[in-house]
Amino acid sequence: MTRSRRILRLALFGLTPILCLGAEMTAQAGTRIETKAFGKTSTGESVELFTLSRAGAPSVTITNLGGYVVSMLAPDRAGHTADVTLGYASLPGYLADNSYFGCLVGRYANRIAKAAFTLDGKRYSLAANNGPNTLHGGPTGFCRRVWAAKVKSGTDGDALELTYVSRDGEEGYPGTLTATVVYSLREDGGLVIDYSATTDAPTVLNLTNHAYFNLAGEGEGTILDHELQLEAEAYTPVDATLIPTGELRSVAGTPFDFRKPVAIGARIDAADEQIRFGGGYDHNFVVRGAPGTLRLAARAVEKKSGRQLEVFTTEPGVQFYTGNFLDGKTLGKAGKPYVKRGAFCLETQHYPDSPNQPAFPSAVLRPGQVYRHTTVYRLSVAK
Ligand code: GLA
Repeated sequence: MTRSRRILRLALFGLTPILCLGAEMTAQAGTRIETKAFGKTSTGESVELFTLSRAGAPSVTITNLGGYVVSMLAPDRAGHTADVTLGYASLPGYLADNSYFGCLVGRYANRIAKAAFTLDGKRYSLAANNGPNTLHGGPTGFCRRVWAAKVKSGTDGDALELTYVSRDGEEGYPGTLTATVVYSLREDGGLVIDYSATTDAPTVLNLTNHAYFNLAGEGEGTILDHELQLEAEAYTPVDATLIPTGELRSVAGTPFDFRKPVAIGARIDAADEQIRFGGGYDHNFVVRGAPGTLRLAARAVEKKSGRQLEVFTTEPGVQFYTGNFLDGKTLGKAGKPYVKRGAFCLETQHYPDSPNQPAFPSAVLRPGQVYRHTTVYRLSVAK
């Protein structure tokens, strides 16, 4: 072997471990996404599962059917992991879902009064799928659509990008809307949901994720013992069909005062007209601070396990819903019944019925504008 060859060999040899180490470090840095087949819809579309993992963060699985968060695995104070989101054991459950167990709701999350609105002088009629009102984008809203999925790799590892193009007139809404949602995991364990959208004609828009949480674990009884703090001085009271009256009412002295941590169950059956209308909590709270800035909206703690959920959002409101329509008939992922109040939702959003409420922050999107919002669901162990 010539001297120069020997030097080359040694150099390569010496480099190999460094190269391998380098590759390993790259592979482990940030978030990794594993993709698996989930099944096919009735029309033969393939649906996949994407598992996001990152050191120190809960493992989160998402499907591109409706963008459902299928599971979030979080350790308790002793290090025991539980799945803290409600859902189904397999794809058929999601295909038949009527509870919105963790999906991306659109085009307009929550209710639009009398299933109609006026925009730029034109009246649009929607399908009434909740008494006289439209709920969660209508009978075939974004939760029921297969979104195009892409795993994108960046300096912080992988992120899951889901895109859905909603055609002009779909479910009665004007304008072709392109909605993109990126799911990623932050270094501090937060699940980040970045929404953006554009349209080719004026439209109304309200996107959210409808994850149901039980911090003791899915199917582990009710959430009445969980303590909740809401960063809200006011909420939007509703009529008997859960449409806001237009008032922003102070929470002070009412069962809606969560400015200090209170057990969810403490006042859930109070003799209060608003509680009666909701069958418990099913109301939009006005999040303190400036919309457009990412700020804390809520913190929930389950004391026995020590698990804590913090919700941050750039949206003006958050719908706090206590699973009042769950009735124990649905069996969850592990076969346990989802009982009434067996979970809570904190749906970050514009106020319900904003298209008919000129005094509420506008939910109108016009061509040339980009709709954006970010929500973070951060699970940790309470100190
Ligand atoms: C939202 C609504 C509730 C209910 C659930 C889904 O939270 O405000 O009234 O429709 O979604 O069951």
